[in-house]
Amino acid sequence: MTHILGIETSCDETAASVVKHPWRVLSSVVASQVDIHAEYGGVVPEIASRHHAERILPVVKRAISDAGISQGDVSVVAIGHRPGLIGCLLVGTSAAKSIAWSLGVPIVGVDHVHAHVLSGLLDQDTHEQLYPALGLVVSGGHTAMYVCTSSTQMRRIGTTIDDALGEAYDKAATMLGLSYPGGPNLDTLAHSELAGPSGRNFPISRLSPDSLDFSFSGLKTALLYAIRGTPNRDGTFPRDFGDLIDRDRAELAWAFQGAAVQAVILKLSRAHQQLREQGINLRTLFVGGGVSSNSLLRVELKLWADEHDLRLVIPPMRYCVDNAAMIAGLGGEMFGAGVADDLSLRAHPQSAY
Ligand code: KG4
Ligand code: ZN
Repeated sequence: MTHILGIETSCDETAASVVKHPWRVLSSVVASQVDIHAEYGGVVPEIASRHHAERILPVVKRAISDAGISQGDVSVVAIGHRPGLIGCLLVGTSAAKSIAWSLGVPIVGVDHVHAHVLSGLLDQDTHEQLYPALGLVVSGGHTAMYVCTSSTQMRRIGTTIDDALGEAYDKAATMLGLSYPGGPNLDTLAHSELAGPSGRNFPISRLSPDSLDFSFSGLKTALLYAIRGTPNRDGTFPRDFGDLIDRDRAELAWAFQGAAVQAVILKLSRAHQQLREQGINLRTLFVGGGVSSNSLLRVELKLWADEHDLRLVIPPMRYCVDNAAMIAGLGGEMFGAGVADDLSLRAHPQSAY
């Protein structure tokens, strides 16, 4: 029986999990630093690294005890060693290597973004053929699409050329006067009683006709101009952020959310069509990352997947955001496919693509 100990420290969550291969979560512990970084309106890398260093061992111990196993039952250590904030990744990678060495078990380095793609498999009994699949990650740091030919083989076919979707949500939320982290707050506001169509239409980014990349900076600028007016020649704005009334705020949130979600759906449709033209007939749509907990996106993804006769594999809320169970789940697949690293494993700020 393979028990994988997963460790995740790429940004501001210190997380550890034990997963029984394949994908059965026995424990998932996440120590969030959201409150600590809220004061700064974003993640401060040095502060995040220090907190990871303080918390990592208690979090790992807790994951092992919550799983009802002992240290000696761990068969593999999986570590999210890329991409992310390098100081944060170094803490997790060093801890994972020390733990693997002291337990005398192999270590597997897992790409955090690839783990988000497959996170919907956690705690699922999936026996049908899932591949080839289209993968979508929408998080605070990443927005990308992949073609997956197996659980361990994926190729990136599109990415954001500017902001990640979650980052755009967080910045839009700040402009609307919502507290950090803004994504979920903007989502809630877009569904509030005051929200709804108001005649304001924000741009849906397309890029070139066959582009599978994403861009959200134009949408962000459109929101800024809708709030503050078109800038004067001297760069000043006719209105201030504080001039917004509650109804404007809710209507703008509604319009922003609609355009953001439509931009994602548009790129999925393009990818589906281009892959079909290449003879790739998709069976599944995998979606992961923090923004996959967005209420409108979830509804639209389900409709889109049904329309294209694809199975939608999307995690419950607790596995949309950063967690170590997804690292352990993919680590188990990789180990099963014969992948193993050694103590020379390094942290990398970039994804493996
Ligand atoms: O995957 P994640 O935990 O961290 C990264 O790897 O980046 O994603 C966090 C991001 C944040 O930008 C947060 O605002 C966004 O996901 N987010 C949402 C929602 N819930 C979380 N954005 C829009 N709507 C939501 N409901
Ligand atoms: Zn993430």
